Amino acid sequence: MRIRSLLKVNKWFVVGFLLTIVLAIGQPLLLAQAQTSTAISQVSPVTQQSRPVASPKEELSANPAQLPPLPYEYNALEKAIDAKTMKLHHDEHHATYVEELNSALKKYPDLRNRSVETMLRDLDGIPEAIRTTVQNNGGGHLNHTIFWQIMSPKGGGQPTGQIAQEINKTFGSFEKFREQFNAAGGDRFGSGWVWLVRNAKGQLEITSMPNQDNPIMKDRYPIMGNDVWEHAYYLRYQNRRAEYLNNWWNVVNWEEINRRWQASSQQQ
Ligand SMILES: [Fe+2]
Repeated sequence: MRIRSLLKVNKWFVVGFLLTIVLAIGQPLLLAQAQTSTAISQVSPVTQQSRPVASPKEELSANPAQLPPLPYEYNALEKAIDAKTMKLHHDEHHATYVEELNSALKKYPDLRNRSVETMLRDLDGIPEAIRTTVQNNGGGHLNHTIFWQIMSPKGGGQPTGQIAQEINKTFGSFEKFREQFNAAGGDRFGSGWVWLVRNAKGQLEITSMPNQDNPIMKDRYPIMGNDVWEHAYYLRYQNRRAEYLNNWWNVVNWEEINRRWQASSQQQ
């Protein structure tokens, strides 16, 4: 009898022992699995409606980011910008923003599924280690991609189309608008851009932003913008930024700006 009851006690001891081991091993495994799926969800692609800003039709890909070709010759905008500045600005400065953006995203391949616009609209969703690099170089890539398109050798003159009416409605006249735009560009301390934007209420506004920040970071659609970094004008104009700002109107592409105005209304 004693042996039989001893065996009974040992049997339950063994079962209990085995259960403890299974739980001890299983729990951390389950925990690790839960942590892994949280980490994956932090860098998973953002699903959202396409909201292109780089051009009216298409968002700017980061898979990989690519330098767009200039839509005209280097010397085509001589009425405002010399060929040497255009070559350096496009082939060196813009190219560097593209390279730096691609280099930052190398360690985060999942982020490449996001457009540059998506990344800039939600910088908090970018890992801290590369957040500033994405802001500066993603912004630089987006701003310059817009810039080349809103200039043309056939540009200049008075605004045309619907944007002309909107400018008159908001600023009183094209002359007054140009004056305010130039003043905002002149007042930007250091490097940055001056923009005509459409705000969340659908109204036109002039604003300037530092460095390579783009208005989409403040929930505004960039209709047109001028680059007031020294690299944009220094070879011809040296410290005469006001003269550069004045001459720039000789190459403004109102056709493209009207397309951007239409596109901005579709995003509201
Ligand atoms: Fe630039």
